[in-house]
Amino acid sequence: MNRLVGMLHINYPIIQGGMGNISHALLTAAVSEAGGLGTFGAGTFSPEHIEDEIKKIKALTNRPFAVNIPIRVQPNVDAVIETVLRHNVPVVSLSAGNPKPFIQKLKEKGITIMVVVASVNQACKAELAGADIIVAEGYEAAGINSIHETTTLTLIPQIVDAVSIPVVAAGGIGDGRGIAAAICLGAQGVQMGTRFIATKEAVVHDSYKKKILDSTDIDTVVVGRGVGKVRRLLKTAYAEKLISLEKSGLSLEEFEKKTDESHHILGAIEGKLDLGHINGGQIAGVISDIPSVEELLTSMVSEYQNVIGRLQYKKESYK
Ligand SMILES: Cc1cc2nc3c(=O)[nH]c(=O)nc-3n(C[C@H](O)[C@H](O)[C@H](O)COP(=O)(O)O)c2cc1C
Repeated sequence: MNRLVGMLHINYPIIQGGMGNISHALLTAAVSEAGGLGTFGAGTFSPEHIEDEIKKIKALTNRPFAVNIPIRVQPNVDAVIETVLRHNVPVVSLSAGNPKPFIQKLKEKGITIMVVVASVNQACKAELAGADIIVAEGYEAAGINSIHETTTLTLIPQIVDAVSIPVVAAGGIGDGRGIAAAICLGAQGVQMGTRFIATKEAVVHDSYKKKILDSTDIDTVVVGRGVGKVRRLLKTAYAEKLISLEKSGLSLEEFEKKTDESHHILGAIEGKLDLGHINGGQIAGVISDIPSVEELLTSMVSEYQNVIGRLQYKKESYK
């Protein structure tokens, strides 16, 4: 058993990352029930909605789960923090902002804190502020990425060398080979988003899931660079529209409006791929089925074990 699995009280070192606007108790609970760590993404949801979903998760599973709070995105951070404290949520993941003001308050209640970072500097600051676990997310990932665009392959070993707390690799992981690669780089587990969208329990429009299955290795695009943002989307009519708007000089304010929660919901939940965007990572190209979460975790772990077995065999054969 590695340190991460022990700290989170889970069976497999597989975390479903928080997914703002599309999070739902069903997926969170399914991942935790299957032995991973499910996360409910607070996104821009109201504290009341988050409270209802936490209650639903608890009714569906007794296993640990997390709530992700994207600090700069969530308009009522303090109220959401109070909600997770009131409901004894076992794990909180903090992203998209400075986690320092919130960490001690959460830790005093025994909550395990994961901080999502995209650079060595952010990882060191999070460790110093009291984070228990670092989630290091590379530029392959779906959704909002760092302007530094560091890839998972290069980010993980550098963060592992810089901190002494467990590191989870995120961005570009979709199967057992990805877990093995992350472990080889020094991570203790993985966090996935795109792969979990293409599962039976994900509450998104079927056209989103189908778009992931249809994607090849070159079917994601990054929008927002022109206004200092990096957001990875699946290539759709709406994503192409955003790119052409950027070319004609879209302002930051207009970009934020065109990629806000209402456009995300139009794309991801309502399936209107010409009117709203859908987040997707570069790993979409390897995803070709829609299993249940339990089937996915079981197959990923067995594939991971096969890969590790092959590595050991190779080592022996060099003797
Ligand atoms: C639809 C969607 C919404 C996301 N929203 C959030 C969010 O609100 N907060 C966050 O920290 N990460 C968010 N992410 C990132 C995931 O938690 C995860 O770290 C990422 O998807 C991992 O990369 P992958 O897509 O290559 O697996 C989102 C990802 C997706 C697909």
